[in-house]
Amino acid sequence: MRNCVEIDFQSLALAARGASKNAYCKFSKFAVGTALLTANGRIFTGCNIENSSYGLAMCAERVALYHAVAEGATKFAAIAIYTPTDAPTAPCGACRQVLAEFAPEMTIQSSCDGEDVMQWTLAELLPAAFRLDDR
Ligand code: THU
Repeated sequence: MRNCVEIDFQSLALAARGASKNAYCKFSKFAVGTALLTANGRIFTGCNIENSSYGLAMCAERVALYHAVAEGATKFAAIAIYTPTDAPTAPCGACRQVLAEFAPEMTIQSSCDGEDVMQWTLAELLPAAFRLDDR
């Protein structure tokens, strides 16, 4: 599925960085932004959204995914992640599992305030993901 559209990672990374500006992260002060590319070329952005009840924080990756699914998109090619760090960071385990429900073969790219950019497939980051329909 991830090859259905040409993936313009530069634009996707820019969109992710832009989305981080909307992060509601007054507790962690760690503003994450994401840009999720659907198989037919739409982009849905996300940012982390925290809460006074700390455990209710939602990661930027899942915000983008849930936004997309709520708009009817279920096939995804790639997600770009921006974190305000010196080195790129990989998505948390919960987000890997949620992304794998829809797009186990998608590409994940991570950029940051430093020059390095990392790229993985989701299958590399979450081998043997749990799936109910595999039973
Ligand atoms: N966070 C994300 O948005 N994505 C990740 O992959 C890891 C962590 C957020 C959650 C929380 O708001 C803040 O970063 C600090 O953990």
